[in-house]
Amino acid sequence: MCCLYNQAEIEAAVNRLASEITRDYQNKHPVLIGILKGVFIFMSDLVRNLDFPLELEFVRLSSYGSGQQTSGKVKVVQGLSCPIRNRDVLVVEDIVDTGITIAFLMAYLKKKRPASLKLCALTDKPSRRQVPVNIDYLGFSVPDKFLVGYGLDFNEKYRNLPDICVLEE
Ligand code: IMP
Ligand code: MG
Repeated sequence: MCCLYNQAEIEAAVNRLASEITRDYQNKHPVLIGILKGVFIFMSDLVRNLDFPLELEFVRLSSYGSGQQTSGKVKVVQGLSCPIRNRDVLVVEDIVDTGITIAFLMAYLKKKRPASLKLCALTDKPSRRQVPVNIDYLGFSVPDKFLVGYGLDFNEKYRNLPDICVLEE
């Protein structure tokens, strides 16, 4: 396992994202929607740096079966527990890869007519993109490698690693 970003680098990126989000949302009382499970560590570090009123929601999607390939079909396994109509919504995701998952979720949320809808992603693999995705707040643009740690898994393992690492074949 080789470390791509260590804890200090991740913390610096999270702090920077938190400042950008604070600048744009501090008077908006937004709903932050995290995508489980991968986002759980990033989301918890991010929101502890946001010192203004906000609400948290989580959705669970299925797109990956297991392994490293997306199945291309996305389903909402666990949806929202509050209405988001006329709310400022910020979606928080761990990684945007092909973009299929997040494009599906953004379209799904848009139908609920939020006042605004933006995306914060910790990591992005632009070289893998199959559908266009606009990332409003980005931590790291990463190479085409399979990443684990800091919430990211391979077959449900390695989420607990404190660094973001490259999974070796
Ligand atoms: P997409 O639909 O291909 O963009 O896939 C997005 C989802 O696939 C992410 O939310 C992750 O759950 C998973 N994923 C994509 N790339 C990686 C990776 O490098 N490591 C771990 N999970 C990944
Ligand atoms: Mg994910």
